[in-house]
Amino acid sequence: MDSIHICGGYPLSGETRIQGSKNAVLPILAATVLVDGVSTLDNCPDIADVQCMVRLLQSVGCVVEWENGQIRVDARHIGGISLPQKYVSRMRSSVVMMGAILGRMGRVTISYPGGCVIGKRPIDMHLEAFARMGVALSEEGNTLTAWTRGLSGNTVTLAFPSVGATENVILAGVLAEGETLIRNAAREPEIEALCGFLKCAGADIQKEAGGSMLRIRGVSRLSGCRYRVPADRIVAGTYLLGCMAAGGSVCLKGADSDALSAVLAVIAGMGGKYQCGQDGITLTAPERVQAISYVKTEVYPGYPTDLQSQLLAALALADGESIVEETVFENRFRVVPELVRMGACMETEKNRVIIRGVRALYGKKVAAEELRGGAALCMAALAAQGDTHIANRHFIDRGYQAIEQDIRNLGGRI
Ligand code: UD1
Repeated sequence: MDSIHICGGYPLSGETRIQGSKNAVLPILAATVLVDGVSTLDNCPDIADVQCMVRLLQSVGCVVEWENGQIRVDARHIGGISLPQKYVSRMRSSVVMMGAILGRMGRVTISYPGGCVIGKRPIDMHLEAFARMGVALSEEGNTLTAWTRGLSGNTVTLAFPSVGATENVILAGVLAEGETLIRNAAREPEIEALCGFLKCAGADIQKEAGGSMLRIRGVSRLSGCRYRVPADRIVAGTYLLGCMAAGGSVCLKGADSDALSAVLAVIAGMGGKYQCGQDGITLTAPERVQAISYVKTEVYPGYPTDLQSQLLAALALADGESIVEETVFENRFRVVPELVRMGACMETEKNRVIIRGVRALYGKKVAAEELRGGAALCMAALAAQGDTHIANRHFIDRGYQAIEQDIRNLGGRI
C-alpha cells in the first residue's frame, strides 16, 4: 500500500538507531566508478534512491553486491558511458554520475536529471565547471553528451556553494591532470564524507578556508578501500522535530550532534532540552513548544532546507507566532496546505511562512508531494489527535529506510 497510517496524540518515548546518510552515500557510490578496484561501503541505507544509484552503476558495467547494509562495487571492468533515462529521471543526484564517468571514461551521455519538485533546480553551475576543466558539451532534446580528450585541473569559482556542483567538480578533479581549485565550495558534511572516501582510495584533496576552498591534485589511479557512511543528519533532525511536535523524550543512537548544531540551536530556542553523548542525542520536548520569531534556511552550517518542512510541523503547535524563510529552494512549501488541513494556522508570503501556533492538530487524509514534506506530515501526524492517512509514501521511502520501525521504536503508533 502506498500510504502510511498514524494514530497520533501520544508523547514519544523510546530510542532508535539512525540510518546511514542518503546524501552522503549517493555521491560516494558515484565515486566508486573512479576506483580501479573494489570499494566496500558500510552502513548503506536500503532506500529507493540508493537502489536507483546501484542500477546506474550496473548500467555502466560495475559489479555490485549489496548485503546487510554493505555495498561492494567492483568498477575494474566498467565499460558504459550512457546512463539510462529510466533511472536518471528518478532522482536529481544521478547528475553526480557525470563527473565520475567523465573522470574515468572521458565521455558520458545523460538525460536531464529528475528529483523532488522543490524548485527549478538547474545544473548550469555543474556544466560551467566542466567546461573550465576541458569538457565539451552537446545537447540534443533532453539528452546531454559531455566529452573530453583529458580532464585538466583549473580554478572553478561557484556562483553559489551548490552541493551537487561541488561534488561533480571533486569527482571530475581527482583523476584530472594538474590541480583543481574549487572556490566557494559547499561545506555540507556530505562533501566531507565524499572527500573522506576519495582520500581513503588515494585521492589528494586539501580543505582550505574552513572548507569553502578545496584544492585537488589529480592522481593517476584510485584503489579499492573500505569506508563507513556517516549517520543521516536529516533523518535524525526529522525525528528530533517529531519529538518537539508530539512531546515526550527520544534517544537517537548514532546521531551526529556536530552536523546538527544549527538545528539543535533552534530546538533549544523552542524549549527542547538535549544532551549529546558519544553515541547520539537525547531530547526531551517541553510541555508546549515556544515560537521562534525568525528562522531561515541556509547552506551549511546554517539551518538546512531539508529540515524546513519538519520545522513547520513542530512550530504549528508552538505558543506564539513564528516566521520561517526559505533561501535555498524557491518552491519548498508544498506541505503547507496539508498542514493547514490538519488544523495548522500558517500562510506563505513569497519565500516565507508565517505560523500562528495552534493548541492541537487533527488527523486527516493528507498526501505527500515530495520526500521531506512527506516526512513532515508523519511528524505532524504523531502530534495530531486521531488518525492520519498519508498517501504517496513512495516519496518518503526515497529517503527513510524504515520510518515505521523508527516511529514504533520511538513509541509512536503507526
Ligand atoms: C543537495 C541535496 C538536497 C539539499 C540540497 C541543499 C543531495 C542528493 N541532495 O541537493 O537534499 O536540499 O543539496 O542542501 O545531496 N542551483 C543552480 N544551478 C546549479 C546548481 C544548483 O541554480 O547548477 C541552485 C538550485 O536550484 C538550488 C540551490 O542552487 O536553488 C541549491 O542547490 P544544490 O546545493 O545544488 O542542491 P542539490 O545538490 O541539488
